[in-house]
Amino acid sequence: MSAQATLADAPNQLDVSPGNPCPFLRALVAGGWLNDEVEPLGKVRDTIVRASGRPLPGAVIVAIAVIANGLTPAPMLRNARKGLRLSALRGGPLDKRSSGSRLIDANGQFQAPELDRLASFASPKPLPLGGHELGLNLPQITAMMDANFARARSTRRRVDRAMMNAEWPVLLKFMGKDAADGTRYLCVEEVQVLVRDRRLPGRVVERLGGERAGG
Ligand code: HEM
Repeated sequence: MSAQATLADAPNQLDVSPGNPCPFLRALVAGGWLNDEVEPLGKVRDTIVRASGRPLPGAVIVAIAVIANGLTPAPMLRNARKGLRLSALRGGPLDKRSSGSRLIDANGQFQAPELDRLASFASPKPLPLGGHELGLNLPQITAMMDANFARARSTRRRVDRAMMNAEWPVLLKFMGKDAADGTRYLCVEEVQVLVRDRRLPGRVVERLGGERAGG
């Protein structure tokens, strides 16, 4: 299914809090698979594993979700007992502030010039049935992450660069496509639809068990 078909076929989406800066989690909220307020860690884990379509270490996802709203004992205990608060990720330990792609600003708004910047790291990838589309393979994703880290020189934390490895390269695993030459790549158009429209590609939606929002 193409990105256009996903957009045209999908029902209305749910609102997503600006306090949720993760493009992947924003799409899961918009599609109705996760709640923006609070969601038990087991459900967060199972939903992400289902979306990935592969065996994932669920314990790692739970560990990330435990610390995502704060590193002191109180928020960690609260998350472990009650769940992850997706609308309160901003300002938390995983928020890189401006060290990331800057595709979604602090008000939850999509920043089109940053998508153009991301696309500048991409190149045409040959499609299995002929033709090409713009995509980023792992070395190109790495170059973009290095550049994102470099431009945030005055505000970045050292841990920000390591955290990026759990974002874009994981997205490549979850929704990457295989080019005719076997290269795995992130399709730029699909990244745009994910970040701007909060919609996942049809093949990921199918793994999640179909569209939820509005129905
Ligand atoms: C419990 C699970 C997760 C939590 C708590 C979480 C949290 C976050 C947060 C707080 C950010 C903002 C970082 C920033 O300030 O730049 C972020 C960004 C991001 N996350 Fe997630 N995330 C989770 C799972 C995932 C998964 C499974 C994927 C991929 C499939 C993913 C992909 C990304 C990407 C691509 C970004 C954008 C980074 C950038 O703009 O440079 N996340 N996530």
